[in-house]
Amino acid sequence: MCGIVGYVGVKQAAPILLDGLQKLEYRGYDSAGIAVRDAQAEHIEVVKAKGRLKNLMDMTDAGRAVRGSCGIGHTRWATHGEPSTLNAHPHYSREKRVVVVHNGIIENYQELRAKLTRKGYAFETQTDTETVALLLDCYYAEAAEKGLSPRERALFAIRNMMIRVRGSYALGILFGDQPGALYAARKDSPLIVGRCDGELRGHMIASDVPAVLNYTRSVVYIDNLEIACLTQDELRLYNVDCEEIEKPFTEIKWDAAAAEKGGYEHFMMKEISEQPRAVRDTLSPRIHEEEDGSRSVDLSELGLTDDDLRAVSRVTLIGCGSAYHVGVVGRAVIERLSRVPCEVDLASEFRYRDPMLEENALVIVISQSGETADSLAALRLCKERGVRTLAIVNVVGSSIAREADATLYTWAGPEISVATTKAYSTQLAALYLLAVKLSSVRGTLDAAREQQLLADMLALPDQIEQILADKERVQWFANKMSACRDVFFIGRGLDYAISLEGSLKLKEISYIHSEAYAAGELKHGTISLIEDGVLVVALATQPDLFEKVVSNMVEVRSRGAYLFGLTLCGQYAIEDAANFTVYVPRTDPLFATSLAVIPLQLLAYYISCARGLDVDKPRNLAKSVTVE
Ligand code: G6P
Repeated sequence: MCGIVGYVGVKQAAPILLDGLQKLEYRGYDSAGIAVRDAQAEHIEVVKAKGRLKNLMDMTDAGRAVRGSCGIGHTRWATHGEPSTLNAHPHYSREKRVVVVHNGIIENYQELRAKLTRKGYAFETQTDTETVALLLDCYYAEAAEKGLSPRERALFAIRNMMIRVRGSYALGILFGDQPGALYAARKDSPLIVGRCDGELRGHMIASDVPAVLNYTRSVVYIDNLEIACLTQDELRLYNVDCEEIEKPFTEIKWDAAAAEKGGYEHFMMKEISEQPRAVRDTLSPRIHEEEDGSRSVDLSELGLTDDDLRAVSRVTLIGCGSAYHVGVVGRAVIERLSRVPCEVDLASEFRYRDPMLEENALVIVISQSGETADSLAALRLCKERGVRTLAIVNVVGSSIAREADATLYTWAGPEISVATTKAYSTQLAALYLLAVKLSSVRGTLDAAREQQLLADMLALPDQIEQILADKERVQWFANKMSACRDVFFIGRGLDYAISLEGSLKLKEISYIHSEAYAAGELKHGTISLIEDGVLVVALATQPDLFEKVVSNMVEVRSRGAYLFGLTLCGQYAIEDAANFTVYVPRTDPLFATSLAVIPLQLLAYYISCARGLDVDKPRNLAKSVTVE
């Protein structure tokens, strides 16, 4: 979704802003803009363009044509008002007395707009953000009458704006009469401040770490209702009462190269290929080997005692998109192993059903970004109700990670491609660890089975590697099928959960209509859509359901479907029903998702490539959905 970058320092700002925005392109956007000024001059130059960042680069000669060492930049993903140059950020008040970039949504913007109009303000755009610029202008003018210093005036205006505005925001703000100063504020939308040393001397703001990685590793995470004031040499932080606060700098451990393509044509393929490493990094540090060779899961990092885990009476898994699909797998694995009743819900639905949360419930929120608005809101609801929360998150320091009672990080590293792959795989791994741990402390697992499960888990990275080594077969099939119009993914039990993810991957990046169906449900309506040539991807990894799925395959094949069968090595009877078959290595059926999903990721990827689409940045989608 929207991205923010800001810089004030000794260097020219525009090239840094454009480079930072480029690093945020993966989040999805439809227009972009920058506001730059000289640190001594009052004039602020604003340049905006609809469409790709390249348009803005061309207009500004890659930033060289816009001079000045202080500025803010933005990539916009339209929510209020169509994607257009006019609605692109930055937005500003008359004579650019206040210039802002904004991520998030101002919920009461209509009410504020009406009030400001009555005060004589005129609006030029359809955005909610313009309201913030004009509201700041209004309070800034009021502060001027109080004889305050420039910084006090800015803080007065920002604080009052924060009190009046409802909704979410990360803001970068320039005041026309304060050259060399850059302000930022946050509520419910991620924001970091970075310190640049050496020849880059200065400070930066950004909505996301990759935007600053080329310039600094030293960042402060801004929390809700905090304000930052940045100049070339100084960073000051305030709470909403304008009292100065101290916050520590955190060192970003990511390698800048980790967020680059590293020789791959697309981030998605790079990230698919990184899965063995990512799953290994997520599992290995948490599986301890004793001297006698036996293994056990160590989740002491969560700060939960065995008694806490024994007391859990129900587990609720929440997420959006692929993270929700991980939850569907998690429900099956946790219930099967630990016999704790488990439910899964979409974060965007959960809050509105007035969920029944018992005292000893454990709510697990799953999120790659840790910033998904619905998942964050669901987490907050649970916390308000006093229920214990645990987050499975990839982005260190993200809102969900910080607000949950405990966080189990997935060590996937930065995921750039909009369609998630390695984060999904590591989330599964994290849930397997939790399921085994819960079962082990609750005594629902005998020692031999626990050892076998842990051995199977540790074998997953190499098995994923094996599947990837044979990716050309899937590529061949994808090329053959790239013109298809409808695809159905079917399976039972865990295979249905895998179907959900396979279908989502395909539709996200290939724009082919696809649906996931519980195979047993087909007969209740959907089978009427099966006709000659429709592709059906049938998942049959679960031995106890294998024959039933094969029967469903035969049913659709006899109605003209073309069958892609996916199963574990050894279950060769699938060839009786499938036109094309992929086998993945044998593992415990509870972990089959981790292997079966790989060919489905490859299928979606290669079909998207064959159709010549923008694999990493599919239309209308955003990597991190920070609005509800
Ligand atoms: C977007 C992404 C999906 C992701 C979902 C949830 O829709 O495109 O890949 O699964 O958001 O995101 P999260 O960051 O909470 O995992």
